[in-house]
Amino acid sequence: MKICIIGVGYVGLVTGACLAEIGHDVICVDIDSDKISKLKTGIIPIYEPGLEEIVTRNQKTGRIIFSTDIMAGVQKSDIIFITVGTPPDETEAADLSHVKAAAGEIARAMNGYKVIINKSTMPLGSTKVVQGMIEESKINLHHFDVVSNPEFLREGSAVEDFLHPDRIIVGTGSQKAAEVMTELYLPFNAPILIMDPVSAEMVKYASNAFLATKISFINAIANICEKVGGDVRQVALGMGYDKRIGFEFLNAGPGWGGSCLPKDCKALVKMAENYGYDFQLLKGTIQINENQKRFIVTKVQELLGDLKGKDIGILGLSFKPNTDDIRDSPAIDIIHHLRAEGALIKAYDPVAVDNARRTLKGVKLVHDAYEAAKDSDILLLLTEWDQFKQLDFKRVKSLLRKPILFDTRNFLDANALRNLGFIHKGVGR
Ligand SMILES: NC(=O)c1ccc[n+]([C@@H]2O[C@H](COP(=O)([O-])OP(=O)(O)OC[C@H]3O[C@@H](n4cnc5c(N)ncnc54)[C@H](O)[C@@H]3O)[C@@H](O)[C@H]2O)c1
Repeated sequence: MKICIIGVGYVGLVTGACLAEIGHDVICVDIDSDKISKLKTGIIPIYEPGLEEIVTRNQKTGRIIFSTDIMAGVQKSDIIFITVGTPPDETEAADLSHVKAAAGEIARAMNGYKVIINKSTMPLGSTKVVQGMIEESKINLHHFDVVSNPEFLREGSAVEDFLHPDRIIVGTGSQKAAEVMTELYLPFNAPILIMDPVSAEMVKYASNAFLATKISFINAIANICEKVGGDVRQVALGMGYDKRIGFEFLNAGPGWGGSCLPKDCKALVKMAENYGYDFQLLKGTIQINENQKRFIVTKVQELLGDLKGKDIGILGLSFKPNTDDIRDSPAIDIIHHLRAEGALIKAYDPVAVDNARRTLKGVKLVHDAYEAAKDSDILLLLTEWDQFKQLDFKRVKSLLRKPILFDTRNFLDANALRNLGFIHKGVGR
C-alpha cells in the first residue's frame, strides 16, 4: 500500500518505519526541514531502541522516504496518517492547531479516494472535525474517509510495541475504510476492534487515564506504607498476582510523566467538564501525582535539612528509561523544586542530556554517574536506566560527600548498598 505519514515525531517515525518494514511504500513528511534533512542523511532525531536499523534498512531499498512536500506525499498515497503533536493549550485542552493545519494540507492535495487516519491522540469528536474540515474546504471533491486509530506504543519500546500490538482500535462507520484498515493491520496478528469513532477516541484517553490512576494509586499506598512501616513492593506483588489487577503499572516512585499521560489526563478532565461531568477520580489522580513529586523533595529535606547550598547528584532525566524524551518528566519537575529550595544540581542521563540542556538552565549536566556523585551530599536516582545497576557503588560512595542514596524508583539492591555503608532510601518501604 502507498502510505503518507504527516508528522515525523516519536509516533510518526516509528509508524512509518514499521509499515515500511512489513513491505509498504511510505513517504514521511514534516514541516520541520531540519529534521527531514537529518533523516535524509540517515540521522535519526530521537533515541528509540531498534529504530535506526529499521529506518536505514528501508531507506536503502527506497521503501521509506522523507520529505517536506506534504502535497506530493498525500497525492502519491492512498492512506494518510496524521501523527502531528496535540500538546495542551493554555486551558489544558488538546491543541488541535497542528491537526487542523495537516487536514488543510490534505484537503488541498486530494486527488482520489483516501483513508485519512487520525493516529495522534485527539479530543472526542475529532474524527468528525477532521472529516468536516476536509469536506467544507470543497477544494477537491474526492471521496474520502477519516478514521480514528489511536496509538498505544510506549517510548523506549516503541518499535516492539508497534510491531506487536495488544490490539488495534479502528473507529469508523465506513465499510470501505474498515476493509482498508483491516488489510493494513492484518499482518500484525492482533485483534482488530472496529467501533464508532468517538468510542475509539475514548479508548485512548480512558486507557491513559486508567494507567495514570494505577500509578497514583500505588504511590498513595506507598505513602501510607511508609507511615505504618509496610513495604509497597510486597504489597504490589501481592496485589499483582490477582489476575484482575496484574503486575504492570504498580511500581511506586516519583510519579508518572512523559509526553502522553499528563496531557491526556488533563485533556480528559477538561473534556468531561465541557460535557457537564466532574471527573473527580481523575482530578485526584493528577493531584496525587503533583504531590508525589513534592513528597520526594520533602524526603530529601528530611535527609539533608535545609537544601540551600546543598549539592545534589541526579541519576536520570528522561521520564522513563530507553528514551531521550524529557517532556513532563518527573525528574525535571523535581529538579526545579529542588533548585527552588536553593539546592545545587549535577545531573546525568545516558541519552537525555541534550534535550534537558534547553530546559535545565543553571543545572550542571555531567558526562557520567560518577561525576554526578562527586562531592554531592546525596545521590538521587530518578530514572531507572539499567546501566545504573552496573555502577561501581564502592567508587560512588567514595566520591559522595555523604553516603546517602535515595532510589526513588526502588530499582537498586537496597541490602547490597546498605552493606557497602550507604544510607539507602526508597519509596514506600
Ligand atoms: N510519544 C508517544 O509515546 C505517543 C504514544 C501514543 C500516542 N501519541 C500521540 O501521538 C501524537 C504525536 O506525538 P509525538 O510524541 O510523536 O509528537 P512529536 O512532537 O514527537 O512529533 C510531532 C511531529 O509533527 C510535526 N508537525 C507538526 N505540525 C505539522 C504539520 N502541519 N505538518 C507536518 N508535520 C507537522 C512536528 O514537526 C513533529 O515532528 C500526539 O497526539 C501524541 O499524544 C504519542
